[in-house]
Amino acid sequence: MIKVVNTKKELQEVLLPYREAGKTIGLVPTMGALHEGHASLVRRSVSENDVTVVSDFVNPTQFNDKNDLMNYPRCLQADCSLLEKVGAQFVFAPSVEEMYPEPDTRTFDFTPLDKVMEGPNRPGHFNGVAQIVSKLFYAVEPDRAYFGEKDFQQLAIIREMVRQLDLKVQIVGCPIVREEDGMALSSRNMLLSKAERKLAANISLYLFESRRFARRNTLLATRQWVIDSINACQGLEVEYYEIVDGRTLQPVDNWDASDYIVGCVTVHCGKVRLIDNIKYKE
Ligand code: PAF
Repeated sequence: MIKVVNTKKELQEVLLPYREAGKTIGLVPTMGALHEGHASLVRRSVSENDVTVVSDFVNPTQFNDKNDLMNYPRCLQADCSLLEKVGAQFVFAPSVEEMYPEPDTRTFDFTPLDKVMEGPNRPGHFNGVAQIVSKLFYAVEPDRAYFGEKDFQQLAIIREMVRQLDLKVQIVGCPIVREEDGMALSSRNMLLSKAERKLAANISLYLFESRRFARRNTLLATRQWVIDSINACQGLEVEYYEIVDGRTLQPVDNWDASDYIVGCVTVHCGKVRLIDNIKYKE
């Protein structure tokens, strides 16, 4: 039976026997509204650790848009039934006051990782992510923590945060889980109408197609082709498409510039902002 824990104190209490027995603890940080993508992270944690904690907390400090925060789907009950099926032992679902008894004034600098793509477009977002993820790491003290590669920039920034804070936790990046039509799973997908959901499948379609296009074309031409192809779908609007070095996240301008090249896109579909990425070289 899965146990829901609401406070840091109770979390310490339930995890103590595992720590004392030298057991390993896996943490899957989430904002709830769980789907098969989260389930794959939890399965991985369950298979690699003695105990798995899933945090389910919509973190206000990472939202720079009040409406986005208000509209973010919340469904703890449904989340718990999914987590029970995949074998997590604990759900940590704190209140905002529990995580932020006072305002968190810490400012992180992840230059150059946070100065590109989502960084300038969502001021304060990664600072908020670093605040909550570091708090979760202090509260759970996990051996390993699991994050999806869909949020590619977030994953790079969390690795950098762990390096800067000299934390012991091992960060495990897990592959994107996709629907049958290629659409990357995301909690935001449930905010799309049926027609928008169908339209949004073009995002991954053109990303995958671009791998083929890239074989005979320059990197800059490939980038432009993806932007033009997605924008040509009425109802979709590309915010950015950057082809970057997978480690530094800095844009590259030719296919020989790095041995790890990833294309990262953000697209608006109606009121919903969708992100996805594709590896060209790894
Ligand atoms: O990726 C997410 O769902 C969130 O950014 C995270 C890592 C749980 C922090 O709130």
